[in-house]
Parts: sequence; structure tokens; C-alpha cells
Amino acid sequence: MGNIRLHDKSFRPFIEYDKIESAIDKVAAEITSDFKDSKDVPVLLCVLNGSILFTAELMKRLTFKCEIVCVKLSSYIGTQSTGEVRDIIGMTGSVKGKRVIIVEDIIDSGRTIANLVKMMEANGASETKICTMLFKPGCYKLDKKIDYVAMEIPDDFIVGFGLDYDGLGRNIKDIYVLDENMKYYILFGPPGAGKGTQAASMAERFNLCHISTGDLLRGEMAKGSELGLKAKALIEAGELVPDEIVEGMIENKFDSVKGFSGFLLDGFPRTTAQAEALDKMLAKRDTSVTGVVSLMIPDEMIKERIKHRAAIEGRADDASDETISNRIKTYHEKTEPLVEYYKKAGAYNEIDGTGTIEEVRERINSLMETL
Ligand code: AP5
Ligand code: MG
Repeated sequence: MGNIRLHDKSFRPFIEYDKIESAIDKVAAEITSDFKDSKDVPVLLCVLNGSILFTAELMKRLTFKCEIVCVKLSSYIGTQSTGEVRDIIGMTGSVKGKRVIIVEDIIDSGRTIANLVKMMEANGASETKICTMLFKPGCYKLDKKIDYVAMEIPDDFIVGFGLDYDGLGRNIKDIYVLDENMKYYILFGPPGAGKGTQAASMAERFNLCHISTGDLLRGEMAKGSELGLKAKALIEAGELVPDEIVEGMIENKFDSVKGFSGFLLDGFPRTTAQAEALDKMLAKRDTSVTGVVSLMIPDEMIKERIKHRAAIEGRADDASDETISNRIKTYHEKTEPLVEYYKKAGAYNEIDGTGTIEEVRERINSLMETL
């Protein structure tokens, strides 16, 4: 699945159809179990238009006798909930004396739901339950509990499976999320150049998610996972781990991390194959590398800095001269060709990595402001 475009905006894949179906199975089973022995005929209140698909899918899974009534609300304008209560425009049937299950596509602040519940009471419903396909727990402001939730999501703007962006997207069977112009920076440089040192302040200043493949791999090694065991011998010899492993870790982060303006990739890509894989991942997201920030220091300084760090951090790949030399060799052979790769792409920016940490940080900050 790649990105889709609706009007002026790009949306990236978020929840696949299969996952939606299983979530509806689950919620339908909960409702059935609560209502299956009832003598009355409960009403599903379908909240138009967004809830059409969900209500239909839900209803065909319910095995007890039930009716449907639809209600129309005024709609969102654009991608922001206006903060106004949406007006209720009309109902297609009576709920008097009946138990009602309100079926919503999505609940965020809960303002609409509060209004609907009041409306059901005013129309004589004997009981009101709430069911929603999507729930944003981070936005919800009511005390009233949502009785049935198929899936919880963060506070993002989404389309598909009944939900729209200014009228479009309701017919898409998967759910997509608005792809804000995410930035993808590469922090490039030889071992010991200061990538990890500079990454923290860059990430904070520009609201970026810092991903260090080296740190992720060391995390796996510390856990003793299968992946960690595979990586250990290679890392301790100063060799690279297989491309597929790091590519998988990176894509996983792109798909799961929320709340940042972009990513700061530290130690990835490290081979031409990885750079090509990254280009493909970003093309799927309708974008490309925003900029490469390359920290350059001479080989002799690499050795000094790593020896200094060895005394403080005790990283296994800092321990022996042989491993350090092999990392430098691996860098020149496999990683340095990326300088040309990104020069050709017009994304390469080199920074003098010598001098104090603060001096290097200043150079990075002035460059970042221009990217
Ligand atoms: P990784 O962890 O990425 O190691 P690296 O690239 O060798 O880089 P380092 O973390 O050693 O250096 P750094 O640039 O972050 O420098 P730092 O800020 O710490 O990768 C480790 C291994 O994992 C690889 O060898 C490989 O096996 C595997 N791997 C990782 N990614 C992979 C990938 N994509 N594909 C395949 N395999 C992968 O600074 C170093 C020291 O210098 C510190 O002590 C710091 O305090 C000091 N320092 C920093 N700046 C200054 C300064 N300006 N002045 C004085 N001291 C400074
Ligand atoms: Mg590092």
C-alpha cells in the first residue's frame, strides 16, 4: 500500500482492511453477547454519513433481532474538528421506549456523542449505549464511558472506511492517516564523528525522532534477542549487519512513531543498497530525503575519540584497536560511497566535525535552518 492523495493532501496507510474486519468481529461479538437474550428489539442509531460502512458491517454480524434508525449531523469542515457542536439535522425513525446503540465511526472529544445521548433521552429511548469503530482516548473529555470500542487511535486526521476529507475517501476500504510534511534527515559520518553526541539536541530543537540503528542493535543485544545474537558477532568484529535487518527496523519506526515533525537517521543508511531501500520507503510516502548532514573528521581523530569513549561507555566495538580499525575500513569501503550518492541527489551537506561539541552544534544548527 502506498500513499493516496485527496484534494490537496497526502495520506499514508494506517489500518488495513483485514485489521478493521477483525476489530468489527470482536466488537460485534461483545454486543451480541450483551443483547442476545433480550426480549425487546434494540435500535442501532447510524450516525450519517461516516458511520454507514461501519454500521452495515456491524449489523450483519449481529445475530439478535434489531432495527436501524439513521441520524444526520452537520459535518466537519476540512481536517480540523471545528470545536463546535455539530447540529443534529434529523432522524429516520422512532426510538421511543427502545434501547438504542449509537453507532459512530469515530469519537474524539465526545461533544457529538453527548448531544446524541441527550437527543435519545429527549426522544424517549429507554437506554442508550455507545459503540464506535475508532476512539481517540487522548481527546475524549466526557465522563460517560464508551460501551463498545473497536479500535483506539492517536489524535490524527484519518480517512477511509466511511470517513472523508471534504467528501472524498469514504469508499476506500483501508484507513489512511494524514501525512503531514514529515522531514527525513540523515546524520551521516564515520564512526566517532559525533553523530550520537549531536543527535539529541538536533532532535529536541527540530522535534525529530532520533533513530540510531547502532543503539537499536545494542538494545537487541542487551535483551539477548535472536536479532541481537545475530548482530553481536558482526558488530564486535567491526562489520555491518545485513541490510534487511536495519531496513526492517527503520520502516517499523516510520510506521509506528507519532507526534514528531520528522526523523533523524543516525547510522542509516550505511550502504548503497540501504540508501536505495530508504528512497523506496520514502517514495511510498510521497516524499524523499530532506537533507543529509554529514559530519567529517580525519581518521586519526576517529581513533582518539573512540578510545576516549571506550573508557566511559564500555561499548564492545570500542574495545580493541583491531575492531576500531576495521570499522574505519568498513566505513571507507561500504559507507563513504554514499557521499557521491547524495551529492548526485542534491541532498548532501558537509560540516566540519572537528572542534568542540558546541562549535559543531552551532554549525549544524545554522545549516539545519536552511534545509
Ligand atoms: P553505530 O552505533 O552507528 O556506530 P558508528 O557509526 O561506528 O558511530 P559511533 O556511534 O561510534 O559514533 P558517533 O558518530 O555516534 O559518535 P559519538 O557521538 O558517540 O553502529 C555500531 C555498529 O552497528 C556498526 O559498526 C554496525 O556493525 C552496526 N550497524 C549500525 N547501523 C547499521 C546499518 N545501517 N547497517 C548495518 N550495520 C549497522 O562520539 C564519539 C565520542 O567522541 C564520544 O565519546 C563523544 O563524547 C566524543 N565527541 C563527540 N564529538 C566531539 C567533539 N566535537 N570533540 C570531542 N569529543 C567529541
Ligand atoms: Mg553513535
